[in-house]
Amino acid sequence: MNTETNELVLDNIDVTFSGRSYDRSEDVHALSKINLTIKQNDFIVALGASGCGKTTLLNVIAGFLRPTEGSLYFQKRQGRTKTKVATRQEIVKPSPDRGVVFQKHALLPWFNVIENVEFALKLQGVDRIKRREIAEEKIVLMGLEEFQTHKIYELSGGMQQRVGIARALASDPAILLMDEPLGALDALTRETVQEIILKGWEKTRKMVFFITHSVEEALFMATRLIIMSPRPGRITHEFKLDFSKQFLKGVSARKIKSQAKFIAKREKILDIIHSDAT
Ligand SMILES: Nc1ncnc2c1ncn2[C@@H]1O[C@H](COP(=O)(O)OP(=O)(O)OP(=O)(O)O)[C@@H](O)[C@H]1O
Ligand SMILES: [Mg+2]
Repeated sequence: MNTETNELVLDNIDVTFSGRSYDRSEDVHALSKINLTIKQNDFIVALGASGCGKTTLLNVIAGFLRPTEGSLYFQKRQGRTKTKVATRQEIVKPSPDRGVVFQKHALLPWFNVIENVEFALKLQGVDRIKRREIAEEKIVLMGLEEFQTHKIYELSGGMQQRVGIARALASDPAILLMDEPLGALDALTRETVQEIILKGWEKTRKMVFFITHSVEEALFMATRLIIMSPRPGRITHEFKLDFSKQFLKGVSARKIKSQAKFIAKREKILDIIHSDAT
């Protein structure tokens, strides 16, 4: 039995971009006092007006950007009651432990699907047979088995994003970080990929930090929805949700999204976002 659980802890994170280093007179206080513990099985979705610091927060978690104040670390808890912290590792740089999926895929156009998914494993020195085995497994998880040998330009936008997710999963990260991964897709494809991501998440149970501008997407996907507010960027609200659980138990996405409970939550969140913006 697995008695170990992962947590990613953000402890009082502040980020200020200095005006001087960017040739501007004003400093930008992009994040203020962010406290958040991301736990195993959390699918966290961040919503908020443009400029409220969502990408900055993702960049901090990824290790691309060091916070101006505060600290963040990855810890493992052990034992039956999970009260004991077994290991704690400060996050100071990017690592394969944190897989990133960008809005626009960053796939290599001269490689086919499976070669793209394998690429990071190759850099990590994983042998040929093993890396092919891992890549095939992630490709199946994203429903792309028929497209393994297709070139990237032969795929639709939704498929390309799924390759991006398969690639991020190939390194077996503890957490998957996604910055508006479905933002460029049409509504129908977007719904299909939402469903594929949730089914993949159910199988892998990775921690997820997912950014979106769509309130409906946020409600449907999140187990924890955080709302951020700008100047300075901070977390103002958090909701625990179970719409994705309903979907994973077999209720259709259409049915979930038309429930009175779903619509009431959507209106409440739109109210919060609009009142934050004024
Ligand atoms: N490298 C940087 N240098 C200076 N200022 C920055 C930098 N990156 C972000 N900012 C500023 O920090 C604030 C937060 O930006 P961020 O990109 O995190 O917002 P966001 O919530 O992701 O917005 P969007 O929804 O438009 O993607 C903004 O005011 C932005 O101009
Ligand atoms: Mg952003």
